[in-house]
Amino acid sequence: MQLVIKLGGSILFGSNGELDLSLIDKWLDILVDLTQYAKVIVVVGGGYPARRYITWGRRLGLSEFECDELGIHVSRLNAYLLLAALRQQTKNTTIRIYGSIPTTPGEIYEARDNYDIIFVGGFIPGQSTIGVAAEVAEASQADFLVVATDVDGIYDRDPKRFSDAQKLDEVAIDNLISAFSKREEHAGTYSLFDIQALKLIKRSRIPTIVFNGRNIHTAKKLFRAMIRGDLQQIRKLATIITHRNQNKK
Ligand code: UTP
Repeated sequence: MQLVIKLGGSILFGSNGELDLSLIDKWLDILVDLTQYAKVIVVVGGGYPARRYITWGRRLGLSEFECDELGIHVSRLNAYLLLAALRQQTKNTTIRIYGSIPTTPGEIYEARDNYDIIFVGGFIPGQSTIGVAAEVAEASQADFLVVATDVDGIYDRDPKRFSDAQKLDEVAIDNLISAFSKREEHAGTYSLFDIQALKLIKRSRIPTIVFNGRNIHTAKKLFRAMIRGDLQQIRKLATIITHRNQNKK
């Protein structure tokens, strides 16, 4: 099985801006466990420090391109931190971890067969790491793209603004594309999905799952359900993006 997991910056950093070391440790354990069943590519977000750098860059008069470059550097730094931490923890095992942070989908395409875990950050300006995750999922023909964020899935309304917002068990890709196509995007403010990512998910019919990666108990149950192929359980724990009404090309 090939998994692509997007670990959002909101998983790595607490609300005080500090790295959440205890949560990161638990995620590293999950990744080690997953290598028994799957090859894993982890796309790491920039989170709080990326947003700080982008704010500082704007104040210094940097362009949108340059602010995006800052975000890319920070996401790669976060990815390298996880890579190095996991390498330390697994040094007496046979787990094969790709030793640097790839900068193109092509590099991952070439490396994926020979490594159990690859960590990635940003690729190019004009997108967020969800774009990277979709590109990598397409290149590696992932069985699942798993988006770990700080809410329980995709909601009918913004759950951070509306207390009665309902989590959707599943949502059609075309509905998401129409919802996200009207948004404006600037460095540091890309939302959970961007339109390019959704188009890749659609054209390659990538089974995509969104869930709350701050809840380790849910994460463990979700990955077990994925390994069993238990869609009913996945629906309970997360939101599945469906491709049901789409004609296969
Ligand atoms: P993120 O994808 O991490 O954005 O990249 P985010 O909004 O902080 O999302 P979370 O919180 O991690 O989930 C940080 C910034 O880096 C730039 C963008 O400016 C983005 O907002 N970036 C990232 C790129 O320009 N290209 C990339 O491929 C990735």
